[in-house]
Amino acid sequence: MLFSININGERRRVDVDDDTPLLWVLRDVLGMTGTKFGCGAALCGACTVHIDGVATRSCVTPIDSVGTSQVTTIETIGETPAGARIQKAWLEREVVQCGYCQSGQIMSATALLSQNPNPSDADIDDAMSGNICRCGTYPRIRAAIKLAAQSGRQGG
Ligand code: FES
Ligand code: FES
Repeated sequence: MLFSININGERRRVDVDDDTPLLWVLRDVLGMTGTKFGCGAALCGACTVHIDGVATRSCVTPIDSVGTSQVTTIETIGETPAGARIQKAWLEREVVQCGYCQSGQIMSATALLSQNPNPSDADIDDAMSGNICRCGTYPRIRAAIKLAAQSGRQGG
């Protein structure tokens, strides 16, 4: 079936089964491999994208549910104000270890910061609890989110 979906500000046409997960449309059909596959069951967060600004597990999002919504992926999240601050803070706090989970972490963190510019520790834990990191980068993730929030308050 032919779908026309909005991804990163562009309209893309894909011909796939209507229950194809958005993750596989991104990775296999469109070649956008920044979004990662981990569990395929909404348990790890590696596949997180934004749909109309909301952090969403693309592995369990059928393409026919996307409709006219705006999909944003790791490839362009740095073009948003919150995404740019998060990515800068990620570098400054040297968050990444193996990197596999980090696209999803950055997408969840950016959604949090967009909706809540001044998150508490509890807000961070709540927003990030579905993103698993086997390398245990959680303390640096929390520090980077706080740094990004601080830079937002300072107009950075
Ligand atoms: S691959 Fe989607 S949540 Fe794990
Ligand atoms: S940085 Fe290795 S899984 Fe998170």
